[in-house]
Amino acid sequence: MPSLLITGAAGYIGSHFAEALIGQGVLSDGPLDLHFLDDLSTGHREFLDRLVALAESKGLPRPKVYEASLTDAPALERAIEQAEPEAVLHFAALISVAESVQKPELYFRNNVEGSQNLLRSLQKVNCRRLVFSSTAAVYGNPPDPAVASRPLPESTALAPVNPYGETKLAMERAIEEASRAWGLNAVIFRYFNAAGASASGGFGEWHEPETHLIPLLLRAASRGEKLKVFGSDYATRDGTCIRDYIHVEDLASAHVLGLERLMGGAVSASGATETFNLGTAQGTSVLEVIRAAEEVLGHPVGYEIYPRRAGDSAVLVADSTRAREVLGWEPKHSSMEHILRTAWGWERGLQASGR
Ligand code: UFG
Repeated sequence: MPSLLITGAAGYIGSHFAEALIGQGVLSDGPLDLHFLDDLSTGHREFLDRLVALAESKGLPRPKVYEASLTDAPALERAIEQAEPEAVLHFAALISVAESVQKPELYFRNNVEGSQNLLRSLQKVNCRRLVFSSTAAVYGNPPDPAVASRPLPESTALAPVNPYGETKLAMERAIEEASRAWGLNAVIFRYFNAAGASASGGFGEWHEPETHLIPLLLRAASRGEKLKVFGSDYATRDGTCIRDYIHVEDLASAHVLGLERLMGGAVSASGATETFNLGTAQGTSVLEVIRAAEEVLGHPVGYEIYPRRAGDSAVLVADSTRAREVLGWEPKHSSMEHILRTAWGWERGLQASGR
């Protein structure tokens, strides 16, 4: 029975991945022995409880939960020795661009030192399969407008414009070095803008404080407040930033495919790292998201233009041809309407429960 460790299972993308994996019941070659590691600094115990209950309802062994931080190397090592994972899905990280600009050392400690601790522990137990969460933020602000206005392939120059992107790039490089040095086999996913919520209603976007566009927009609209739009003087079609919004369930399905790829074949003794963009190739501006939300909500959404936010890129849109061709991945849930409908359902639930 394959033993899998999921770091950050109590977080937004980790929980959706775990739900998808449990929903699927089995990996190609048998049931799952799941281990969740999270320090609950930004994740939610409710998510872990729901995942444990879901696994048991599917007849899987009760997943083990380790409440530990990646920065606590001895605790991490103990968890990994206990879990004896055949593969690790490493979602745990701090993810706010704005916070990373204000507190870079916090981001380097968590995202780089913490992940280095993980790599060291994996090497010790000879676990050589890793799926790593990276980000479009590694591309920064592609300077050539001809480059920026078309979807970015993985070969785009790597030049983060904020500490968050720097920490993820540092770990991408450390993982590639680990592949060369001790035969780690890794799949790195560069997410564009994760959005939306699970169809089950059990999981969704829940950050405290919230900084992301879609939940803030829905929150402002439901309270009759105005959304702050950060910058209207970018070199884009309407002056606001363009992003590639990808439904979190499509990110989850990519991870299932990435994991199957690592588990399917014999692990290459020489190690290998493969990197994939995950997005839709469709860019949507902030004002276009507002218009789409007006359609879904059925009423106007007020907004006000504010100065640019530090660390923002003008345009980030993914060319995900490689994920489609190599993994057979296809985003199926990422229309802006479906993203907004599921996000709105989740947001209403949060508000009704007084969160
Ligand atoms: N925005 C607003 N008002 C808000 C919040 C956001 O105008 O209240 C704008 C931002 O300035 C940006 C866009 O909406 O132009 C999207 O912002 P988000 O904060 O939702 O997302 P980011 O693009 O900043 O960052 C997200 C993830 C990062 C990841 C990045 C990759 O949080 O982890 O996508 O594109 F690196």
